[in-house]
Amino acid sequence: MAGSPDETHFGFESVPLEDKQGRVDEVFHSVARRYDLMNDLMSGGLHRVWKDALVTAANPPKDEHAFALLDLAGGTGDVAFRVIESGGAGTRVTVCDINADMLTVGAERALERGYDERVTFEQANAEELPYPDRSFDCVSIAFGIRNVPRIERALAEAYRVLKLGGRFLCLEFSAVDVPGFDALYEMYSFNVIPAIGHAVTGDREAYRYLVESIRRFPKPKALAAMMEAAGFRRVSFTPITGGVVALHSGWKL
Ligand SMILES: C[S@@+](CC[C@H](N)C(=O)[O-])C[C@H]1O[C@@H](n2cnc3c(N)ncnc32)[C@H](O)[C@@H]1O
Repeated sequence: MAGSPDETHFGFESVPLEDKQGRVDEVFHSVARRYDLMNDLMSGGLHRVWKDALVTAANPPKDEHAFALLDLAGGTGDVAFRVIESGGAGTRVTVCDINADMLTVGAERALERGYDERVTFEQANAEELPYPDRSFDCVSIAFGIRNVPRIERALAEAYRVLKLGGRFLCLEFSAVDVPGFDALYEMYSFNVIPAIGHAVTGDREAYRYLVESIRRFPKPKALAAMMEAAGFRRVSFTPITGGVVALHSGWKL
């Protein structure tokens, strides 16, 4: 059991805390080139709607006012591009991710779309950010925090780099609580997703990890309590799509 402070979970498997990041990195190294396609296939395109809810909450100014957003575990830049498309000329996004393969795919896409001047890709661990205190107006993390071994550290770092008055937004898979839908979701998660993953990326295990890690992830109230412990105020969460995901919000006040 992952009961001791030096143990955690990689999916359903108990692993030493220091081993988890390496295992997570292997998953995203393996799927990086097919990551965005897989998101569309697995969610039936719904991940776009979920990410747009995050972007709406981030509310980048439509005019030339400066707005700096840090997208933690930002991978291939999907959230970053949506923020740029929604914001005005003063909006800038820093995508930070621990995995060079995911960042490479993102940087190529940014160049193709002409966003390379406004989106920067940087390799860093969310648990130890290379940015000064109070650097960003908004810090986001989408489907990332579940993969970080020490969630408390990542929350503390997000809080540290936010400016006063800034908002932290975390989009993450959550707990389905709709009778009937929960059983369907369970069947889909454990059978269909690994099969699609195997067919598209050749890596069934990576998608088994995904499903198991969702199931092991703290329930939304527990994550909200962790955000409060990190110092965030006016902490709230909104379940979306029957609780398949939740958008968590907290302010640095
Ligand atoms: C499921 S992907 C999400 C990517 C992107 N946010 C999106 O929604 O499309 C999870 C990302 O978390 C990154 N990640 C895992 N551990 C991390 C860490 N400790 N620090 C920063 N990024 C991390 C992975 O490399 C991967 O790119």
